[in-house]
Amino acid sequence: MDSRISARALAAALGGWRTREPAYEALADGIRLLCLDNRLAPRTALPAERELAAFLRVSRSTVAAAYRSLRESGHIASTRGSGSVTLPLRRRDPGRTLVSDGAIDLQQASPPAWPGLAGVLSEVAASASSLVSRVGYDVVGRIELREAIARRYCDRGIPTSPDQIIVTSGAQSAIHLLAGVLAGRGDRVLIETPTYPHAADALRRAGTRLVGVPVTSADGWDLDRAEQAFARTLPIMAYLMPDFQNPTGRSMSTGARTTILQSAERAGTILVLDETTADLDIDRGTVAPGFLDGDPSLVVRVGSLGKTVWGGLRVGWIRGETDLVRRLVAARPAQDLGTPEFEQAVAATLFPQFGAVVAQRSHVLRNGRDAVLAAVSRALPEWHAPHAQGGVSLWIELDAPLSSGLVMDVRSRGLLLSAGPRFSVDGGHDRHLRIPFTASPDDLVAAVDILAEAWPRVRGGARVAMAEQLDSVV
Ligand SMILES: Cc1ncc(COP(=O)(O)O)c(C=O)c1O
Repeated sequence: MDSRISARALAAALGGWRTREPAYEALADGIRLLCLDNRLAPRTALPAERELAAFLRVSRSTVAAAYRSLRESGHIASTRGSGSVTLPLRRRDPGRTLVSDGAIDLQQASPPAWPGLAGVLSEVAASASSLVSRVGYDVVGRIELREAIARRYCDRGIPTSPDQIIVTSGAQSAIHLLAGVLAGRGDRVLIETPTYPHAADALRRAGTRLVGVPVTSADGWDLDRAEQAFARTLPIMAYLMPDFQNPTGRSMSTGARTTILQSAERAGTILVLDETTADLDIDRGTVAPGFLDGDPSLVVRVGSLGKTVWGGLRVGWIRGETDLVRRLVAARPAQDLGTPEFEQAVAATLFPQFGAVVAQRSHVLRNGRDAVLAAVSRALPEWHAPHAQGGVSLWIELDAPLSSGLVMDVRSRGLLLSAGPRFSVDGGHDRHLRIPFTASPDDLVAAVDILAEAWPRVRGGARVAMAEQLDSVV
């Protein structure tokens, strides 16, 4: 068995789980959602029934029935004497979480492939014989691709040479590599909350301790908290998304960039700026100045074609000082032996057309964003959906902290979403829901209609459950 979760931690992670009757099914659903989101890893020991019942203020038989339901749906196994453990997810969850083939899947915020991509793939395939004459293990990246990436930084006003670039298999692989090279077990890493969850997972897996700094759709970065966190915890590294932050869609103001840079310099913290979503501008217009004036050895940038071109391309990169690039290249083989040649050739062919790529992206994302904003204000006026100027998603504030219950409810109705707490670093965010606007406007409107149909039921269920719980306590 790998790990265990205490009753206190499980109760906190469950948040407002009691959204319907019977209570044991609502509880089982809450635990299923934690498994689906990977907030409860496979082979995690669950608390004893009696202990969890005490924390949740329900009867032991409610927890026993929830665990029975989870056993039946294949989410946990229980053995006499050693309690219950979560199981690895099967490809399809039986029972309540069964999702039909026509499901609308908004768990990932990934736009469809750029329409010109298929043509570029065919063009590159035509030169297959020269591609296969290469060695094939390329842990640094093809020079023509690194030149193209460096040129793009120069165009943005960030002078860059190709030896400051290492090409990776997507931004995720870049984050994983940086986490291993820049941070060690027990080191503190400053990170936004909410954040991109797979980055938080990679940093946790490297053994680091995450220090969350709040970002809100309405006000952006909490700079007081950020300054304090830099000064008090002296983080070894900060992982931040200054442009069109995922999930809030916010971009840092020039003042915020200066404050963060100065705080990082004082604390000796390396800023890892994830710019995967930075080119997804809808109506911001000007490109915000990057962290230009600081000590260059403190700023490392991560980029990717995953959102601009296609997630399936798996081409990303890191821009850093040449010394850092050398360290990354040396450490990389333990993780992977390079980025595939074909994908690199495709990426190098795409860069000269980057202007057309981002213009098309802007158009697609504008349609999606506007469709969600209009549908939410029509069907769920009690929710607060802040305008995002770019990026991939809206971070919507619900009028009750029931994001997890709602996500579980709509799952059985063919709509897949990630609940707010999935994006949280230190728990919470059950009052928020991320709605990616990367799908087609038709699917997005249908998704909001499903949410609007479910919301009164989820809210009503929670109210009844709350009243019953109060009754049973007094
Ligand atoms: C902010 C951010 N960083 C990194 C990634 C991963 O990118 P890639 O597909 O290039 O690995 C994503 C994908 O969702 C993302 O949103």
